[in-house]
Amino acid sequence: MSRGLFITLEGLDGSGKTTQIKRLSGWMQKRGVVPVITRQPGGTAAGDRIRELLLDSRSVGLAPMTEMALMFGDRAQAIAEVIEPALAAGDTVLCDRFTDSTEAYQGGGRELGSELVLEMHRLICGGLQPDLTLLLLPPLDKSLERARRRNDRVAEKNGPNEGRFESEQDAFFRRVWEKYREIARRDSERVVAIEGDLSIDDVHEQIVEALSERRVIAHSR
Ligand code: TMP
Repeated sequence: MSRGLFITLEGLDGSGKTTQIKRLSGWMQKRGVVPVITRQPGGTAAGDRIRELLLDSRSVGLAPMTEMALMFGDRAQAIAEVIEPALAAGDTVLCDRFTDSTEAYQGGGRELGSELVLEMHRLICGGLQPDLTLLLLPPLDKSLERARRRNDRVAEKNGPNEGRFESEQDAFFRRVWEKYREIARRDSERVVAIEGDLSIDDVHEQIVEALSERRVIAHSR
């Protein structure tokens, strides 16, 4: 049996990843491919607990190194429990965030630098690289606006539980955004950056184009 495809979605909070994963999954299913969908941090029982710790605004004073190590702890578990078994079984995996997020947020945002993150990736994730990464990069101010609106809604309903990253300052997100662009330039074979203030339909179209151009799935509209 041939190995499955590993596709990751990346972008800032509020870039529309969740919506696009749903659309893409629907599109794939119409073509007979039922993807395994997962996210980071989270997606396993242990990972969900790590996620809670990382995203909870009550986790005050986490050192950047702690944050990065926890992201990789979560990732190691997801690879062992979800991603590798699915790929080995020939399934397509759609993963909401992977190591590019750590490079952008901890490497860029927290200023730990790319080198350290990539070295951790090599040690913890071995040779595992996505076959394709879809990077959603709307203008920074649009992403921030959307992320903060969503965060306020969630906080109103459930308390300020998942807001630790969203409450960061604009300068942090600018560094994340710039690091994402740097990754896209460096790894242009793997990463397709979808930029600009586009509608949900237009982003979906570009994702489908990227998949078909790379013959990830036959384009049969
Ligand atoms: P999300 O699941 O809603 O996208 O939220 C996850 C948050 O965690 C988001 O703010 C980005 C952050 N994050 C990192 O800082 N580093 C990482 O490696 C990952 C996977 C996520």
